[in-house]
Amino acid sequence: MAAIRNIVILTGAGVSAESGLETFRAADGLWENHRVEDVATPEAFARDPELVQRFYDMRRTAIMQAQPNPAHAALARLDAAWPGALLLVTQNIDDLHERAGATRVLHMHGEGLSAWCTACDARIGWSRSLLDEPPCPSCGATALRPDIVWFGEMPYRMDDIFDALREADLFVSIGTSGAVYPAAGFVRQARECGARTLELNLEASQGSAWFHETRLGPASALVPQWVEEILVTRS
Ligand code: NAD
Ligand code: APR
Repeated sequence: MAAIRNIVILTGAGVSAESGLETFRAADGLWENHRVEDVATPEAFARDPELVQRFYDMRRTAIMQAQPNPAHAALARLDAAWPGALLLVTQNIDDLHERAGATRVLHMHGEGLSAWCTACDARIGWSRSLLDEPPCPSCGATALRPDIVWFGEMPYRMDDIFDALREADLFVSIGTSGAVYPAAGFVRQARECGARTLELNLEASQGSAWFHETRLGPASALVPQWVEEILVTRS
């Protein structure tokens, strides 16, 4: 295998499934029990802010009750063993990668434990409910919303992600259905820039054809196994 200097890893809801956090498009997933149009769009928030705040209160509580699983731990081990090589781009709004010890984590869809003040644009660590419309700690306005990228909004830090994909020697996708863009297009961008591409997922995804290799199974088994392999090749 050619020298690997830069690794970009994309994670989706599947990496946190074994920590007890619901995925979106599974049979009993979030989008089976909630309509995107009701809880995950700016129009929904304008129409019924209480419903949206309750949805994210529920997700915030679930995040705080969850613990990192062996997949999160293995990625943190990789990060520690290979300083500066790994960028972890996650579509997830939980903080399990960070709690497992990963250092370079980029939340492209925002963070469940953060609030965004639409008056002063501050982003504030937030673990309580927003239902009672608390004032922004920075400017005092009652203008806090979940710090989440909703359908129709632009994901965060896309320039940084595209730069990393251009430089990637290895692109690994873990626990995502490949249903939602722009994340679903990252594998093609990485491959066209020369990266080797690997998918670790419970089942084939919508992007599986773009990967040099796909391994199917639970992330808690596949990710530690792959991390051990890649660290052996490095040493
Ligand atoms: P998109 O066109 O990127 O995504 C459309 C996809 O969203 C569809 O393929 C489908 O998989 C899913 N979807 C749309 N409506 C749905 C529904 N009613 N039920 C179930 N699934 C549904 O969407 P977009 O508007 O271009 O999104 C822009 C960005 O916002 C994307 O990166 C997206 O991932 C992100 N986003 C984040 C959240 C969140 O909760 N963090 C929710 C929605 C979108
Ligand atoms: N191990 C590995 N993969 C798993 C596991 C597991 N234990 N459990 C589920 N998966 C896989 C499923 O097979 C599926 O392919 O994880 C994927 C989860 O897909 P989705 O539910 O669509 O979640 P995700 O791909 O993260 O959704 C992308 O859509 O609604 C938006 O913003 C939201 O970030 C989300 C984005």
